[in-house]
Amino acid sequence: MAQRQYEFSDSDFNYFRKIADRLTGIHLADNKKELVYGRVTRRLRALRLQSFSDYIALLESGDVNELEQFTNMITTNLTSFFREMHHFDFLTQDVVPTLMKNKPRGSRIRIWSAGCSTGEEPYSIAMALRESVPGLSGWDVKILATDLDSEVLAHGAAGVYTVDRVNGIRSVYLDKYFDKGRGPNAGKVRVKEEVRNMITFRRLNLMEDWPMKGPMDVIFCRNVVIYFDKPTQTRLFAKFSNILADDGRLFVGHSEALYKVTDKFELLGKTVYKKAG
Ligand SMILES: C[S@@+](CC[C@H](N)C(=O)[O-])C[C@H]1O[C@@H](n2cnc3c(N)ncnc32)[C@H](O)[C@@H]1O
Repeated sequence: MAQRQYEFSDSDFNYFRKIADRLTGIHLADNKKELVYGRVTRRLRALRLQSFSDYIALLESGDVNELEQFTNMITTNLTSFFREMHHFDFLTQDVVPTLMKNKPRGSRIRIWSAGCSTGEEPYSIAMALRESVPGLSGWDVKILATDLDSEVLAHGAAGVYTVDRVNGIRSVYLDKYFDKGRGPNAGKVRVKEEVRNMITFRRLNLMEDWPMKGPMDVIFCRNVVIYFDKPTQTRLFAKFSNILADDGRLFVGHSEALYKVTDKFELLGKTVYKKAG
């Protein structure tokens, strides 16, 4: 093991595991010790603290800003535009057209990107809908994008990305839905206003009470629950079932099967679920 600048005991690690679980629902396995060391060490340096005990004392003092910084450090925010493209095809070719068939014209269609990270997922939803659902403008379509991590949310709300983030996406999306930066913003793109206006970004901890009443017609919660333990996942899916409309649909990540986790949902297609019963 590499020489460490700061002493990092098992009891320090266990403290961070416990508080991460309490604040975020994220379950840090034994093999995450080095990862936690790396992330928290950066914070120790920034704050010019001498030891992990000093940092633990700061968290224990209940410093709200530091608790937020800590949760931001613990989350894993990996995401990309049109991740798992088949979900966006299914959404635009099946789920939304069916909703439109079953609701009076112009009704509300509510989509929730829960654990939206830096915004690529909700923007992909918005662009896919605009591009592939005829007559969309005659409907009241809104996307709620939430995350616990305040930093990624701010990034998402701004809608500015370096070009390498959008390199792989279909050129029709790039040409129609992004403004290209010039001068000091060269090398960056910004999601166009009409797409940004479809989305509301809000900080929301999935472990806490949710302020919105719903019902949601569609929930995307992808690559979020893999970090939670099973009982936490079970509780969360029960809450998703409560807030989802009876004919609503839930999209999860490719490695997040609900089998043996919840009986509230039935598999409909590749990692797309409907409410059971
Ligand atoms: C790996 S990203 C997934 C992003 C996107 N859904 C995707 O699939 O590309 C997981 C996100 O879940 C968020 N997250 C983790 N725990 C959370 C919680 N308790 N409440 C809300 N968001 C949470 C993290 O901050 C992170 O941005």
